[in-house]
Amino acid sequence: MTKQTKKSIKVLCLGKLPQAQLDLLRSATNPAFDLEIIDRSGPLPSDQLARALASKDAVLTEPQDRINAETLALAPNLRFVGQRAVGFDNLDIQHFNDSTPHKILATNTPGVLDNATADLAFALLIAVARRVVEADTYVKTGQWSGFENDLLLGTEISSKTIGIIGLGRIGLAMARRAHGFGMRIIYMRSSSGRGNDDFAADQKDLMLKDELGAERVKLDRLLQESDFISLHCPYTPKTDKLLSTREFDLIKSSCILVNTARGRVIDEKAMVEALAAGKIHGLGLDVMEREPEVPQAFIDAPNVVLAPHIGSATHETRNAMAALAVRGMMEAFAGIMPQNAINAEIWAEWISQQEKLH
Ligand code: GLV
Repeated sequence: MTKQTKKSIKVLCLGKLPQAQLDLLRSATNPAFDLEIIDRSGPLPSDQLARALASKDAVLTEPQDRINAETLALAPNLRFVGQRAVGFDNLDIQHFNDSTPHKILATNTPGVLDNATADLAFALLIAVARRVVEADTYVKTGQWSGFENDLLLGTEISSKTIGIIGLGRIGLAMARRAHGFGMRIIYMRSSSGRGNDDFAADQKDLMLKDELGAERVKLDRLLQESDFISLHCPYTPKTDKLLSTREFDLIKSSCILVNTARGRVIDEKAMVEALAAGKIHGLGLDVMEREPEVPQAFIDAPNVVLAPHIGSATHETRNAMAALAVRGMMEAFAGIMPQNAINAEIWAEWISQQEKLH
């Protein structure tokens, strides 16, 4: 039997974990993990989350779990946050880096959900363009009486222009799909987050031109030229309400907008107004500004297709995300820096603090 040399790590897992990860954690010995799971379907109120975190060393989170000074107020031991998502705008990383008596290491799950998320973005794009949800309702409600030449006419996708906002891993997966559908691709990527800054094409832009014929443009040009727009940038203070009234005024009224990134990248009120004013043709939305709240205008509109934040929701991808999060946590507590650390800059200090704790 392996000799146990370290104290067991008390872990809170918010949401379900696949059996393989449960088995892995329960069989680990050096250190051992003492796992509590809270399977909740909505975000826990802050005070309840704070109490649940109170005696924990580590927590496995999802996008709805806000981990910040308030929710960590009762958790002096907490030193690891494993986010099962690529976006981590729910985590206060600055607070983690400044935290005393020890810093908090955080990981996320980049790289394993690109295809699943781009698939959903493309599914929403096609669903709105080809009126798939309206067609389904039409048939299921018994309205179909035979072939009609102008029944449920939609918008062609091939040869149209798609504007991709944010050309990271998921944006690239989306661009590859668009290329496969014979679309012209323009994109915006920006260190300022706002997208109208001057830029010089770099290696990545040259590769995208070469592989996909894609052209990097400033945000305003993307808005003016695109027949479809798909958002793939992270939410940060810099991308907060990146699309608002001014931007909706630039978009073509025939444009279809898809958002599988974060709701807060769009000013939702401005989007509702643009839809009502006919400034946009349709919307495919997997994310909302204040999930799970959905404006009634979106529910009522046949040209809006909605999904409940399921971009990465395939069996394969969710298993891979859980595996990456659990592996990162096990590595960190075994003294190996996880490849998927978000705040890797604190690693040296974090690991020396851990050594003192044992
Ligand atoms: C999901 O929203 C993610 O960021 O992975």
